[in-house]
Amino acid sequence: MSLVTIADLMSQAEKEGYAVGAFNANNLEIVQAIVAAAEAKRSPVIIQASQGALKYAGLEQITAMVKTAAAGATVPIALHLDHGTDFTQVMRCIRTGFSSVMVDGSKLPLQENIGLVQRVVQVAHAVGVSVEAELGRISGTEDNVTVSDREAYFTDPEEAEIFTRETGVDCLAVAIGTAHGPYKGEPKLDFERLDEIRRRVSVPIVLHGSSGVPDEAIREAVARGVRKINIDTDLRQAFVAKMREVLAAKPDEYDPRKILGPAREVLQQVIEHKIQVFGSAGRV
Ligand code: G3H
Ligand code: 13P
Ligand code: ZN
Repeated sequence: MSLVTIADLMSQAEKEGYAVGAFNANNLEIVQAIVAAAEAKRSPVIIQASQGALKYAGLEQITAMVKTAAAGATVPIALHLDHGTDFTQVMRCIRTGFSSVMVDGSKLPLQENIGLVQRVVQVAHAVGVSVEAELGRISGTEDNVTVSDREAYFTDPEEAEIFTRETGVDCLAVAIGTAHGPYKGEPKLDFERLDEIRRRVSVPIVLHGSSGVPDEAIREAVARGVRKINIDTDLRQAFVAKMREVLAAKPDEYDPRKILGPAREVLQQVIEHKIQVFGSAGRV
């Protein structure tokens, strides 16, 4: 299959009331595990590359890997730029073949964020690429911020209404209590805020920093309208834990395939579980 856009995926998710997993990929084994899990679960899936991933693996290589994987797949797959901040780089991703891009202007003042996103939307929509933007600020768990500091960055529902109307984005990432990276305690999601955002905003809602959020809270978020769920840390941890386990059991192993292969299998299981929780299994 050719790559699909997240707008395509979100419209079915919206109609049927589930969320699509957006899994970060940095290398071949991660791409393979995501696709194998989506095939096994008959689920649509989003493979996303961060700026760090592009730096590590290369824009062309990542694109070629995901396009090739999608061409051989029987489930719909989107290739999405995660947290693009630089206009030029976002344009390069579009030209190289990404089907969707995130332009993250969340650190900018509202009007500048709107201006940046408008510019991206104008070009992206002209060539059939969909756009995610972020409003509010989703920090890292390791950033030294107190709970009240964090809450000050939560997405304002009224601003979200203005922002989506003025930019024409396809989906909106919101700050409602999640953070990137491993949590120290259990994250508390502000579901009332999510409801208010949903009441005012017609585009699908995206949840970042979803690793480490308990399955029940994820199900609740999906029931309340989250339609794209970003997962990275849980994948990294599962992948590396298995590599460590293999290396500890076989310290003399020198064949990377015998270390990465088992890690890829574990990763597939973790992704299959996420797909089940998000409700996207059996939708294809
Ligand atoms: O949102 C952040 C993602 O986990 C990507 O992280 O920039 O280290 O690739 P990264
Ligand atoms: P986690 O690493 O916390 O799952 O966050 C992933 C993410 O939001 C990618 O954009
Ligand atoms: Zn994110």
